[in-house]
Amino acid sequence: MDEKEIEDLLQKYYLKDMHYEDGKILGSMYTKPPEIALKAFFKFYQANLGNPGLYKGTVEIEREVVKFLLRLTSGKDDFFGHVVSGGTEANVIALWAAREMGYKRVLATQDAHFSIRKAANLLKLSLENVEIIKGRMSIEDLERKIKGGDIIVATAGTTPLGFIDPIEEIGKICEMHNCFLHVDAAFGGYVIPFLRELGYTNKKFGFDISAVRTITIDPHKMGMAPYPAGGIVSKENIFEKIEIEAPYLMVGKNEGLLGTRQSGSVAAAYAAQLYFGWDGYREIVKKCMENTNYLVKRAREENFEILEMPEMNIVNIKIKNVGKVKKELYARGWGISTNPKYSSLRIVVMPHVTKEIIDEFLGELKNIKKSYGL
Ligand SMILES: Cc1ncc(COP(=O)(O)O)c(C=O)c1O
Repeated sequence: MDEKEIEDLLQKYYLKDMHYEDGKILGSMYTKPPEIALKAFFKFYQANLGNPGLYKGTVEIEREVVKFLLRLTSGKDDFFGHVVSGGTEANVIALWAAREMGYKRVLATQDAHFSIRKAANLLKLSLENVEIIKGRMSIEDLERKIKGGDIIVATAGTTPLGFIDPIEEIGKICEMHNCFLHVDAAFGGYVIPFLRELGYTNKKFGFDISAVRTITIDPHKMGMAPYPAGGIVSKENIFEKIEIEAPYLMVGKNEGLLGTRQSGSVAAAYAAQLYFGWDGYREIVKKCMENTNYLVKRAREENFEILEMPEMNIVNIKIKNVGKVKKELYARGWGISTNPKYSSLRIVVMPHVTKEIIDEFLGELKNIKKSYGL
């Protein structure tokens, strides 16, 4: 096939996909990265940090990204970290390392991301649910269930509601019982530091809580980087707990979960971080929160019920027959996600979710509500 024919064929498939620039993907934690990040991706697409000996430049870049992740998580420059394929891999690595250190049982809420269940299953760690109160981990139930040697997973920005578990209190309890505390801030890690600066919250979630040992924090969510770019940072060197001999590699060992690692996205995450900088990320969070508040206000004006006041840029609109509404919205070109447990439509107010898109969406939702008498 010649190149033109290949392009034409690819275009047919491309047009079947949804795209972030159209603004109609409302249920995803991703957005279109800046052009410079995409340029960096293609410049470094050959790099493979699974074999770091060959890619010394990319190794240095990864360290720069990790340093930024440590700044976001109140860590120190000499802490450890890697850019990985996503939050799922980061959570698996954290729990794997904890298991290698002798921890045996995971305690998490049902609103923890499914990757925690996946990790527990893969690693043959038992998993117990801690109750949820007002969308956050119940301290009373944690105190009832915790035992020495447990791994506690707290979430800073839960997937369904965007809420922050009470991590400072959880940390104190973990210290009393010698437990391993992992914080999943895959989404919230790039949000909470700026919510603090903007006066929305004073909550901590990072290494400024002494019990916190490992944190998941993903550049490919609110860090505006293209996939695959998750992040895992740690106070101690967790990677040496899970490294494996690999004589055929330049450095003779492999640390982490994957072998070959697409590392164009590491350069891309770095380019995004240079492009926006700390102040640029704060502006993004400011705008997303303004649009979040706009969505809440406009939805209420249209007589929709908001499940709980959002803590970050995730809004849940309570609706009857949520499965049917999701189907209807999808048929009209909207990429929406739902929380069946809460009977709500879940909107992640990413930068492409503008006020115009919000108005258009609510108009559509009103029509659906009217036609189905919901
Ligand atoms: C809190 C949290 N952790 C982990 C993940 C998994 O991230 P990924 O999809 O990058 O593997 C998500 C994804 O939405 C998430 O919200």
